[in-house]
Amino acid sequence: MGSATHTLDSTLVLGIESSCDETAVALVRGDRTIVAQAIASQEAEHAPYGGVVPEIAARAHAERLAPMLEKVMAEAGVTLAEVDAIAATAGPGLIGGVMVGLVSAKALAMAAHTPLIAVNHLEGHALSPRLADAELGFPYLLLLVSGGHCQILAVEGVGRYRRLATTIDDALGEAFDKTAKILGLGYPGGPAVERLAREGDPKAVPLPRPLKGSSEPHFSFAGLKSAVLRAKESGAHSDADICASFQQAAVECLIDRLARALNTAGPFPALVVAGGVAANKAIRAALEGFAQRHAMRFTAPPLQLCTDNAAMIAWAGCERLALEGADFAGDPLDFVARPRWPLDPAAEPVRGAGVKA
Ligand code: KG4
Ligand code: ZN
Repeated sequence: MGSATHTLDSTLVLGIESSCDETAVALVRGDRTIVAQAIASQEAEHAPYGGVVPEIAARAHAERLAPMLEKVMAEAGVTLAEVDAIAATAGPGLIGGVMVGLVSAKALAMAAHTPLIAVNHLEGHALSPRLADAELGFPYLLLLVSGGHCQILAVEGVGRYRRLATTIDDALGEAFDKTAKILGLGYPGGPAVERLAREGDPKAVPLPRPLKGSSEPHFSFAGLKSAVLRAKESGAHSDADICASFQQAAVECLIDRLARALNTAGPFPALVVAGGVAANKAIRAALEGFAQRHAMRFTAPPLQLCTDNAAMIAWAGCERLALEGADFAGDPLDFVARPRWPLDPAAEPVRGAGVKA
């Protein structure tokens, strides 16, 4: 309690993340120290199904969260009374899992008389580069690429996001996962596809670059995925060549759409990538080159901050506290978990059925 007496640097926030298949808890200080954290992946539970099963995920979060909270607090040697706020992912995501984390956070907040901060998971990703990079100021051009989202955002400040592009069907992480599934590489697919791509020829398989050069700003990856399926079924290509060619097509789509966003909404001093797909080294390298060519600073969070984690949720809480100041009493305890929660509510809806935010 007592955020009134704290500066940003000494603020201590407990973060909880449970929106997909990672249960995560972290204690983060306003000076960017991750005091303690724990992440439990559910890969083993979902692997037999080739994707995340919401019911299994919610149950696993419910089983794991309490012991993980105790472990993190004990490791840090901190009591709830010393925590300035409890930040939990309140959406978007799989609703069962989100509810497990949010309800736990509400209970803790109520018991300890500590403010609750209901964090948008996407805001966690969007601000995560600032946790890793103290020099990164606003504004920046953000490519947010994860299993559920593929967006380009102008990040103008905490809580100020302008969506410049989104996917009209699949997210890029989803396309990686589906490619892996088609090739029988297991789940999660991103790292497996990246690994095999290193052994393949990126020019070997002719794959489409959906919406490349299009005057509309968005992404589309469903056609690419279908082309991967046809390439596999043709029997004419090695899996490594398919992976390398798929990754190359994805990179070209990303760069093309970023160039369009920069042309229409730029310039920006910095390009930032966040979300699970940002762990991909080929994508990082291409983005770094793009940033260099456009005289932009390039920031990518370290790998463990790219994939889902609670440090980014706690950090988003720190940013909210710093922004709203000493009077911030927290979000209402009846804040409802949101399966969908766009970062930019003013963004125009796009055509396409698979749009998640
Ligand atoms: O951000 P994240 O952990 O969860 C969501 O909020 O979706 O992202 C997970 C996604 C998965 O689709 C996974 O396959 C992808 O990120 N991913 C990768 C890599 N590592 C994780 N995609 C491509 N290359 C990687 N190395
Ligand atoms: Zn995520």
